[in-house]
Amino acid sequence: MPNVLLGVCGGIAAYKSAELVRELQRRGVDVRVIMTRSAQEFIRPLTFASLTGHEVFTDLWESPDASDVIEHIAQAQWADALLIAPATANTLAKLAHGLADDFLSTTYLATQAPVVLAPAMNVNMANHAVTRANLLALEQRGHTIVASESGYLACGMTGDGRLAETDTIVRAVLDRLHPVRDLAGETILITAGGTREPIDPVRFLGNRSSGKMGYALAAAAERRGARVILVSAATALLPPTHCEVVNVSTAEEMQGAVLTRLPEVTIVIKAAAVADFRVSQISQNKIHRDGPLTLELEPTEDIVRSVVDHRRAGTLVIAFAAEMGLDVERAREKLHRKGADAIVLNDITHSDLGFDSDRNAGVFITDEGAVPLPAASKDRIATRILDGVVALRLQRRSSLQPS
Ligand SMILES: Cc1cc2nc3c(=O)[nH]c(=O)nc-3n(C[C@H](O)[C@H](O)[C@H](O)COP(=O)(O)O)c2cc1C
Repeated sequence: MPNVLLGVCGGIAAYKSAELVRELQRRGVDVRVIMTRSAQEFIRPLTFASLTGHEVFTDLWESPDASDVIEHIAQAQWADALLIAPATANTLAKLAHGLADDFLSTTYLATQAPVVLAPAMNVNMANHAVTRANLLALEQRGHTIVASESGYLACGMTGDGRLAETDTIVRAVLDRLHPVRDLAGETILITAGGTREPIDPVRFLGNRSSGKMGYALAAAAERRGARVILVSAATALLPPTHCEVVNVSTAEEMQGAVLTRLPEVTIVIKAAAVADFRVSQISQNKIHRDGPLTLELEPTEDIVRSVVDHRRAGTLVIAFAAEMGLDVERAREKLHRKGADAIVLNDITHSDLGFDSDRNAGVFITDEGAVPLPAASKDRIATRILDGVVALRLQRRSSLQPS
C-alpha cells in the first residue's frame, strides 16, 4: 500500500482536503496528514485524525512520546509521495526558498519522495509575479504542480485560484506514485533557449525565447525514465536535477554540440529558437553611433537538416516551427523538406502563449496525422509532445517487425 503525506495549509479550500483523503484511501493509499498552524484555523486536526486513523502532525516541537524518533524525518522517510493541498502562497514561497520553520516545510526539505502541489488562493495572489515565479521554480525542481482552476472564488472574486478538482489532484498523485517510465532506455537530446549571434563585443541578435518549453520537455522526459542531454542557449532557468547540460551561445555552437553528441542519442527534440541569420562580419570593436549602420546578414546552419543527415538509423528527430497562425499543411511541407519525423507547430500570434510565456499551444504533426495541443501549461504541453514521441516510436518499431 503506497504512503502519501498530505500537507494542509491555511486556505479556505482546506475543507476540501478531507474529501481528498477519502478519495486517496479509496484507491488503496495510506494517508497521513500534516497541518500548518493557519490550516487549523479552518479545520480541526480531529477531522483528519478520524478519517486517517493516524495522529495529525501540527507542531515541529511536539513529539508524541519521549522516544528518540525525530518525527518530521520519520514522516519524510515514510512518504512515497508528499501532496500539499491546498498549498497557500505563503507555503509555496517557503518551499521555493528552502525555509523550514514548521512541520510541513521542514518535512518537505527532508523528504526525497516526489512532491505534488495543488495551489489555491485569491486571484490576485495567484497572478502575483512572486507567486508565479515561486511556482515556476518549484515546477523546475521536478515537482508536479496541479494548476488551480478558474471560477468563482470564496473571496467573492472570479478568476484563477480555485483548488483543482479532487479527481485531478488524485490522478496527479497516482502518476507520481506509479510513474510511467515509457522513455526508459532512450537518450534524448533537447535543445532549448534562444541563440545569440554577435554583432560586436557587446551586442548580439537574439530572440524572445525563454527556454521554458525545452526545459519543461527535459524535466518531463527525465521523469519518464529517459537520459537527457540539454543543449541550452541563453536562458535564466535552472535545469532539471539529473540532466546533463551543455551551454552554447550561437547557432554554430549549438550545431557543433548537437552533432558531437548525436552518436549516443536516440531522440532529438529541437525546441530551441535558433537564429536564421547571423552577421557576416562581426566587428572586433564596439561599433559607435557615427551615423546610419547597415548590417549584412548571412543564413545560419540548418541544424535539423544536419541532424537528419548524420543521425543513426532509428534516431527520431522532432522539429519545432513557430509560425503566425496554425497552417498545418505548410508545417507538414517543412517536415518533409527537413526530413524530420514530427514537427511541433506553435502559433505565435497570441501574446499570452509561446515565447516567454508559461503556456503554449500548437499541433503535433507527423506523416500520419496532426494532434492538436490545446492551450495549457508548458509542463502539460511537454507531456503531450512526449506522448506523441512515444506513439511514434511504437509505430516505427511495429513497421520494422516482419509480418
Ligand atoms: C479567511 C482567510 C482565508 C485565506 N485563504 C487563503 C487561501 O485560499 N490561499 C492562500 O494562499 N492564503 C489564504 N489566506 C492567507 C493565509 O492563511 C496566510 O498567508 C497564512 O500565513 C498561511 O499560512 P500557511 O502557509 O502556513 O498555511 C487566507 C487567510 C484568511 C484569514
